[in-house]
Amino acid sequence: MDASMIDLFAGCGGMTEGFRQAGGYKPVMAVEWDPYAASTYAANFGEDHIRCADIAEVDAPGIDVDVIIGGPPCQGFSNLGSKDVDDPRNKLWKQYLRFVTETRPKVFVIENVERFRRSAEFELLKQEEHGGLLDEYKLTSGLLLAADYGVPQRRPRTIIIGSRLGKAIPLPPATHSENGRVPGTEPWRTVADAITGLPSKPAHTTLPTSTVRFFERDVPGIFKAADLHIGRQPTQRSLERYDCIPPGGGRFDLPDHLLSNCWRNKRTGTTDVMGRMRWDRPSLTIRTEFFKPEKGQYLHPQWDPNDPQNRVNRVITHLEAARLQDFPVSFVWCGSKIEIAKQIGNAVPPGLAKAIATHLRQYIEA
Ligand SMILES: C[S@@+](CC[C@H](N)C(=O)[O-])C[C@H]1O[C@@H](n2cnc3c(N)ncnc32)[C@H](O)[C@@H]1O
Repeated sequence: MDASMIDLFAGCGGMTEGFRQAGGYKPVMAVEWDPYAASTYAANFGEDHIRCADIAEVDAPGIDVDVIIGGPPCQGFSNLGSKDVDDPRNKLWKQYLRFVTETRPKVFVIENVERFRRSAEFELLKQEEHGGLLDEYKLTSGLLLAADYGVPQRRPRTIIIGSRLGKAIPLPPATHSENGRVPGTEPWRTVADAITGLPSKPAHTTLPTSTVRFFERDVPGIFKAADLHIGRQPTQRSLERYDCIPPGGGRFDLPDHLLSNCWRNKRTGTTDVMGRMRWDRPSLTIRTEFFKPEKGQYLHPQWDPNDPQNRVNRVITHLEAARLQDFPVSFVWCGSKIEIAKQIGNAVPPGLAKAIATHLRQYIEA
């Protein structure tokens, strides 16, 4: 029988998608308060079991479940050392713990940003393991790189596994490594693996005009993967900038007359800014504003040093970002361009979630 599963702070459902791909899990509940992200979830997995509401307003189902997944959002983590358990910023953690204590899953998984491991919230969680709310659980935590699990992206993430199965569950073993140098693993997947073949000149700059009704409101959608291959209209100055930046390069490749004042005055740091991807490597972390080149390494990798005609001077499209985040072509989307970008950048890459789900299944079934 499939393991019943709750996804908290579900976003568009990247994590659920990975568990779906692994097989053996049945989502029985999801909670997400953003109506556009919740609509994307509903369009892919069904509206029947997702609650579009503040988690604080949602009752845990009155039944035990097998698995809880999800991660409270990272905004407002307090620094290590601030141990005030009544700090309002801890309230989302308390909601996650409430669901765990009320539904007593065999296993729970928390995904979060790298710096979570140095936050007061992480301390709070560990304190609950011995004699606290998580007394029945054994915790394992570590930093996983999505690229090590077949995702074409170097996205480091803190993963915590809680087990009520009598023993701690180790983190899943890596399946990929740089150049396959770790015996038994395949080489990292690359940007080329993810986006080769997509048109270099997107045909549209807007999403199609259509709406769908979820949670008693009309939202833009439902959009297919191909609808997300949307271009932008950069200024001439932006195009001149992009043209100076080779793969792996960034703002430090710009001539003085193309520098903004803030870059001219800031000679060090923020090395990814205005960065161009490399075909033969995984991308860097895809964040929620990947459509702004000044926010990271988001320029298209095609750039021929000898032939200016053979350069693609634009940022990646939403479709390319979704592919780098490992979403399958069958995944559909709801929301405006900005809202969909947020969903893509916030998601757990399905490939990483699938590796975790496949690994957990053997423990749950045993
Ligand atoms: C990092 S994202 C989750 C990504 C998701 N795990 C995935 O794989 O697609 C965190 C989500 O928590 C949602 N969220 C934040 N506060 C919330 C609250 N009080 N109640 C419900 N959802 C909330 C945000 O809207 C956001 O979509």
